[in-house]
Amino acid sequence: MKKNSKLKVSIIMGSQSDYKVMKLAEKTLKKIGISFETKIISAHRTPQRMYEYATKVEQSHIGVIIAGAGGSAHLPGMISALTQVPVLGVPVESKKLKGLDSLLSIAQMPKGVPVGTLAIGEDGAINAALLAAAIIANHDPNARKKLKYFRTLQTKSVNKTPK
Ligand code: RP5
Repeated sequence: MKKNSKLKVSIIMGSQSDYKVMKLAEKTLKKIGISFETKIISAHRTPQRMYEYATKVEQSHIGVIIAGAGGSAHLPGMISALTQVPVLGVPVESKKLKGLDSLLSIAQMPKGVPVGTLAIGEDGAINAALLAAAIIANHDPNARKKLKYFRTLQTKSVNKTPK
């Protein structure tokens, strides 16, 4: 990893069709002011692209990877197998099984290669961004401040009584 460069988040997804969910991770990171990149990498359709990305990611200034995938969602696990950069998996809702297949594929990694798994769909994408920001904030006081401010605004937005 490059010295003195700010860590950023890498958002990857298995297909263009995942972007409608994964763009919420982008939106959340933008709100907090954490830099990110976004790529489409399919473990089964672009295995070479996946290998090149995962084997080079440690030399970059990427501190956390958010990987969204649906169906037989092996992308997060395969990436985690190839790098020690922490991987957060977002199960994208599938057409046939409503994302249960994606969730189990990502969460049920056998011991030795971890993937931190978030909720299915949009909540998962948003929380993956917040968790990624919290990981980056461990070594970045500015990110910590921004995350704290985000939480404060969120708390203030909850009414005491229903309207
Ligand atoms: C997975 O297959 C992707 O992550 C996506 O969620 C799912 C379906 O992909 P498409 O057929 O819509 O491209 O690889």
